[in-house]
Amino acid sequence: MRHDSPTHLTMPKLLGALGLTILVSLTLAKDFLGSLPPQATDLSLSVGSIIENATQEGNSSGCQGYNLQTLQEDEAGLTAKLSLVGESCQAFGEDIVNLTVRVTYETATRLHVNIFDTSDEQYTIPQSVVQRPQQIKDAYRQSSDLVFNYESSPFSFWITRKAHPDATPLFDTRLKSMPPTPIPAVDSSDTYKNTTSLNNLSFVFEKQYLQLTSALPKDTNIYGLGEAVASSGFRRNLTSTVQAMWARDVADPVDENAYGSHPIYLEHRFDSATQTSQSHGVFLLSAAGGDILLRTPPSGNISVIQYRMIGGVLDFYFFSGPSPKAVIEQYGELIGMPTWQPIWGFGFHLCRWGYQNIAETREQVTSMRAANIPLEVMWNDIDLYHAVRDFTSDPVSFPGEEMRQFIRDLASSNQHYIPIVDAAIPKQVNASDLYDPYTKGVAKDVFIKNPDGTEYVGQVWPGYTVFPDWFQNNTQDWWTEALRNWSQAGIEFSGIWLDMNEASSFCDGSCGTDADISNTSVPFILPGEPGNFVTDYPECYNSTVSGPSGNITVNGTLTCHLDTAVSVSLNKRGLGAGKQEGVDLNTPQYAIHNGFGRLSNHALATNATHVDGQVELDTHNLWGLMEEKATHLALKSIQPGKRPFLISRSTFPSSGRWTGHWLGDNFSLWAYLRHSISGVLQFQIFQIPFVGADTCGFVGNTDEELCNRWMQLSAFTPFYRNHNIKGAIPQEPYRWDSVADASRKAIAVRYALLPYWYTLFALSSTSGTPPVRALFFEFPDEPELFDVDSQFLVGSDILVTPVLYPNSTTVQGYFPGHGNVTWRDWYTHEAAKPTSGQKLELQAPLSHINVDVRDGSAILLHAEPAYTIEETRQGPYSLLVSLDFAGKAQGNAYIDDGISNPPGPSRTLTFTASQNQLVINGNGSFSIQQRLQDIFILGVTQVASNFKLNGQAHNATYDATVQKLSFSNVNVDLNGDLTMTWA
Ligand SMILES: *[C@@H]1O[C@H](CO)[C@@H](O)[C@H](O)[C@H]1NC(C)=O
Ligand SMILES: *[C@@H]1O[C@H](CO)[C@@H](O)[C@H](O)[C@H]1NC(C)=O
Repeated sequence: MRHDSPTHLTMPKLLGALGLTILVSLTLAKDFLGSLPPQATDLSLSVGSIIENATQEGNSSGCQGYNLQTLQEDEAGLTAKLSLVGESCQAFGEDIVNLTVRVTYETATRLHVNIFDTSDEQYTIPQSVVQRPQQIKDAYRQSSDLVFNYESSPFSFWITRKAHPDATPLFDTRLKSMPPTPIPAVDSSDTYKNTTSLNNLSFVFEKQYLQLTSALPKDTNIYGLGEAVASSGFRRNLTSTVQAMWARDVADPVDENAYGSHPIYLEHRFDSATQTSQSHGVFLLSAAGGDILLRTPPSGNISVIQYRMIGGVLDFYFFSGPSPKAVIEQYGELIGMPTWQPIWGFGFHLCRWGYQNIAETREQVTSMRAANIPLEVMWNDIDLYHAVRDFTSDPVSFPGEEMRQFIRDLASSNQHYIPIVDAAIPKQVNASDLYDPYTKGVAKDVFIKNPDGTEYVGQVWPGYTVFPDWFQNNTQDWWTEALRNWSQAGIEFSGIWLDMNEASSFCDGSCGTDADISNTSVPFILPGEPGNFVTDYPECYNSTVSGPSGNITVNGTLTCHLDTAVSVSLNKRGLGAGKQEGVDLNTPQYAIHNGFGRLSNHALATNATHVDGQVELDTHNLWGLMEEKATHLALKSIQPGKRPFLISRSTFPSSGRWTGHWLGDNFSLWAYLRHSISGVLQFQIFQIPFVGADTCGFVGNTDEELCNRWMQLSAFTPFYRNHNIKGAIPQEPYRWDSVADASRKAIAVRYALLPYWYTLFALSSTSGTPPVRALFFEFPDEPELFDVDSQFLVGSDILVTPVLYPNSTTVQGYFPGHGNVTWRDWYTHEAAKPTSGQKLELQAPLSHINVDVRDGSAILLHAEPAYTIEETRQGPYSLLVSLDFAGKAQGNAYIDDGISNPPGPSRTLTFTASQNQLVINGNGSFSIQQRLQDIFILGVTQVASNFKLNGQAHNATYDATVQKLSFSNVNVDLNGDLTMTWA
């Protein structure tokens, strides 16, 4: 397996002579090939020479920063001109002599500090790619929560809160407050001169190297900076984090760069003297490759964050919070709110790589129905394609007309279909090999080019390929037409799955214009094929049987014990640069910590050229975002009036406006079950809230217990899909009785909670409020929660405490609120024993996931969860009210047709309970067809009587053991108001 994979995984015995080859090819699963690229051995050699080159030229010890020349204040902020101090420092190339600092108080909570080259030659992100507010109408300078402070010589700045001018600044680039000792080196391989000299904390602004360092309190809490599977979990490690920003096709590595780049962090500071906290956010709007480091010097009492970017400008935004939720909302206000999801998207999705034909695909639908496990959306991976080409279906195994019928059959049962779309477009092999998307694309000139203007050729699943240039004006229409034609040819999709869009390419850089395009194979063996059977035993099982078929029988002995940490290593270094003259597109001097080494490795070459001369080096991190926007717009055109449903792999700030995300190619390991929670939480910060992991794990063989726990956990994450690699043992939830049982139970809870999920996502799309929350988002003053990522909240009211380790029948979890909040069990309605800062142990037998409801809440539910979202929605509602100590509760529900785009009429219901009275008010013109059938009120401490519904006597029952009052069959019309009383 990968050198950084868990070492305790039991490997099967493999055929002796071929052993080595197979070990390598085992790692080469689809979508993440790059986990050990074919050029792996060469790589270490070239990394050596890169380091050597850096040694020769990297030097920032002489960098003295910039001095302020002029400064002009205005209504909205200020503009300062800076000039380089002394000789150019040449840390990694040419210094930029003249800089401009534009400070704008954009809103009361958002401060914009843009430091750019005065001549405006560095790459900046076009508005068409990431749209942000341009006209700042009002001047917020006076009313801003934040203050920009500066020193002239050398120039430095710091950000404070207006209300706390003397508190430790939120961001502070002054050298004098910096530690006397150098920042510890990144890792043992990080001893070359650039890093040593970069321990110098100077502000550096060069064409291909920008460095800025800010002090952080040593005991602070940092979240975000991704996309990352961090060994530290959701909260980032302040001593060892090196987050490289370079979109990368790799199976979820630990502590390395992955599919998306998100240079945003949320910082949460707790003041132990006052026992209160405040959060703020810092966002660097940059598409450049780079490293963001968190470091804590051994002496001194601060930590630092250091940005090392290899291009672009330093375009910072600061968000004042002061609550964690507010920070995330303020970020959403800047980059745009998440897209509205069609309500069927919340159903259960089933996929795998390796459904070989339409019959096998259909069989899954039938088997799910037979097992009575709700299936909302059936997916196909690239097996669907003819010759692995986008926008096709194989004429033998997935004929178009049969697919049309299959998808229509799904639709008639209120189910949906989603196919994959890969980033790369295959070249035609010869003149008789007609492939319309390619020829039309050539005619419309939509593909990325080499610097000399010839077609850029890469290699992906279909063989040699080209790649859409989203900057080209014709590309949108060409892409929309390709999707439309595909749909008309029978693949009548409801949504689209975008894969490989980092964008990935198997050649190291360009494959060259003389590549033998008749070769349509990939340079490795696919999983499940001879030579690459997925025969690794599920974690926790000893290997006792190893069959050559790749389909192993799991009858080993359970050997797992509580987890050992996944081993972590940074591996290779890469290179990165700018658009203007004097820029090295291929080998920028500063080597960012790209896990694949060279930036062009397993990706497009950094000199691949877009229209207007924009180069891949500057725009690489934007490829996925731009494809997502184009696909979203295409779907809007193909399915007018409906909300586009997209799930995509490579993301960038503002991707949430267009798409949801899955957490990429994970592993069928318990560690990745745990990582999935941090991943979902991280993407709440990134404003791509519709996210989830490949349930039961993608790479490797899963097992019953892991799949059981994972099907339960993912039922409480926004995107809920089981997906498996080709060649591994099947893992659909009906394959094991216990998993089927766990799935039915968890999905029933999920579908009951659908009105709640939907309301949370409406709030997300309108206000940017994160639907899934870390515990401290809701309880920011409880420090024991700052590092908790083994539990999470759905909204503010549903606490999920999943089992994350094998062989467990109990689980421990916090019940936040320090004893002032009553949490009631979802299933039994029993109240948990209040605690203060201590964990409770809960029973957690297989197939049971602990879910608790916060007091003071009122949650609208579907009373009768059904097989599909549509059937569930056709059933009646119920209302679960959970009173707090004061006998109060409050909640609301947003209801609309679940599909219209833009959203049409809606109705928002408000539930308010106090003093033995529950009032339901509604607002909005949407007509709710389904009635409210039952009302449950928890926390009614005394035997109640004299029940009235809108003044009329009504029956109710009272259960003293759980303090529950139940009004059954009230049959209330939710288009009117209601008052219910008890005494
Ligand atoms: C190192 O520098 C030399 C001389 O400039 C250059 O020829 C070589 O390609 C560089 N190597 C790498 C890996 O950047
Ligand atoms: C920097 O700005 C100064 C003052 O405007 C100007 O004289 C000088 O030519 C500029 N230098 C460069 C390298 O642009």
